[in-house]
This record gives sequence, C-alpha cells and structure tokens, in this order.
Amino acid sequence: MKKLRILLCLALAALCLGALAGCNSDQKGDTARPAVVVGFSQLGSESGWRIGNTASMEQAAKDWGFGLMLDNANQRQEKQIAAIRSFISYQVDVIVFSPIVETGWENVLNEAKKAGIPVILMDRMIDAKDDSLYTAYIGADFLAEGRRAGEYLIKKADDMRAKHLNIVEITGTVDSTPMRERQLGFREAIGGDERFTLLESISGDFLRSKGEECMRYLLHRYGTEGIDVIYSHNDEMTLGALDVLESVGMKPGQDVVIISVDGQQTAVDALLEGRINCIAECTPHLGDAVMALVDALSRGEEIPKQIHPEETVFSEFDDLSGLEPRGY
Ligand code: AHR
Repeated sequence: MKKLRILLCLALAALCLGALAGCNSDQKGDTARPAVVVGFSQLGSESGWRIGNTASMEQAAKDWGFGLMLDNANQRQEKQIAAIRSFISYQVDVIVFSPIVETGWENVLNEAKKAGIPVILMDRMIDAKDDSLYTAYIGADFLAEGRRAGEYLIKKADDMRAKHLNIVEITGTVDSTPMRERQLGFREAIGGDERFTLLESISGDFLRSKGEECMRYLLHRYGTEGIDVIYSHNDEMTLGALDVLESVGMKPGQDVVIISVDGQQTAVDALLEGRINCIAECTPHLGDAVMALVDALSRGEEIPKQIHPEETVFSEFDDLSGLEPRGY
C-alpha cells in the first residue's frame, strides 16, 4: 500500500513537472524543475470570480517565472486536502490554497509545517487556534464588503424615503469566510435601523443555478409583493436571481432593490442597465501580489501576516462612465 502511494506520488510529480512551462529553472532541459515551484490548490470553478482568480494566478506565475502545480478541487474539501498532501510529497517551495470552508484543515497544515513548507492562504481564511499553521493570508476584507453593502442600503432607503423594507439574503457557501463575514458586516451596518426586516437568509453556495433555485423558493414563499430588497453574496447567484425575477415579469433594480458582491463584467453591465442597484467589489486579481509574497519567501524575507487588496463599491449613485473593463 505504502509502495503504491509512493508510486502514485512520483507519477503525479512527473505529470505536474510536465505541466510546468515557461519557468526559470535551475537545470537545463524541458522537464527541469523551476527554481521556485508553487503548489496551488484552487477550490473550484463556481463563479466568474473564481475563473478570473485562477487565470490571475496562472498569469502571475508565468510573469514571475515560477513553476505552478495547479489542482482544481471542484468544490470538494477532501480533494483540496489530497492536493496539499501531494504538494508536500513533491516538496514544492510554497503552498498556496483557497480553503473552501474554514474548518477541518489542522491535520494537513500540520503536515506542511512539519515538512517546512510555508503556506499562503489566498482569498479565504481558516478557523484554527494555531496561526503558525499558515505564513500569511492575502484576500478581501469580507466584513468591509458586507458593511459597504449595508451602507448602500441605508442611503437607498433614505433616497426612497422608505418607511419599511423587507430583505432576503442569498448567502455563499456555509462555513466559508466570505459567507460568514459578508453576512456579519451587512448586519452590523443595518442593525438597529428599524426600517429593515430581514425575512430570511438561505444559501445559494455561490452558484448561479442555486441562486435561481433560491429565488424561485423566495418568490413562492413571500410573493412578488413581499420582497423589497435582495442581498446576494456574489454576482453569479445575483444573475441567477435576476433571470427568475424577469421570468415572472418583475423589473429587478426597480420593483426590488438588488445588492450584489464581486463586480464581474456581466454584473457590472447589469448595474449599468439598471437591473442591479449596487455591487460591493471583491477583486479576484490576486495573482501578482501572491507571487510577490512567494518571491519574498524564496529569498528568506519576512512577509506580512495579513494583506487586503483595495476594494470599493459601485452603485447607481456613482458616475460609472469611467469604469475600466473588469477583465473577468
Ligand atoms: O471567496 C470569494 C468568493 O468566492 C467570490 O465572491 C465568489 O464569487 C466566489 O465564488
């Protein structure tokens, strides 16, 4: 059994080495190991954001001349754990991973620690008492995103001179950092304002198809007149919800206030068309900053424990005429 595992690891390493292209290497020849090899466990391809994030990592690895062993876990935590184990066997220089949920990582991260391989958490955090299990976290301030969404809603309610608004929330993956903190930040911002009632919060798992399902259920439960505001934790679910609203003759952005998170091009287009009212930005373009950290680590330098990219909010109250194409 042990022999089989070793053989499998060697086969995987050979495969991955074959896939490492266009990198600086410390040997000559096509399959030479690049000077720096990054093992990257991506959690899946659930959204335009995620696909843009993977592309950003691939491009940045090329730009920095690093080898990238990329594994896509297709939304399965056990696949992420297996990928991290294979990176440890291969003795990559740095492991980067985007944890699908916050819990359940201690064992595998202890294994990485014992092997002396630094781990960078990218995009999402873990819930672990021991913060020596990772070297750095680089990703959005999801609490701030939730607060920005809530602050927009307060401004909108003032603008509408609304006495009372019923809100439904379509959340991301349960037990994931963006889900937990976008929920918390939004509640913090609107909490105590008696104009708002949060009717229900349900998970759409960051997927467009589930956003549609959630919207059908919510309309069935509260009717077309019962919902004033939809707060959806990502653009994919929002776009799914828009399809359902429009299929029953409603005008999202007018009959119901739509608040989303991310800022992928299709959602920004919907904002410009007046079908979405507000998008709290979350940027997937993290690759270059991640590779800068990898570079610093490979030189033996200290890196900051936490880095948040700059993000903003786009809404119907802003002049968006100069907005650059989003690139994803
Ligand atoms: O973790 C970031 C979130 O994950 C993005 O908002 C979402 O689109 C993605 O799936």
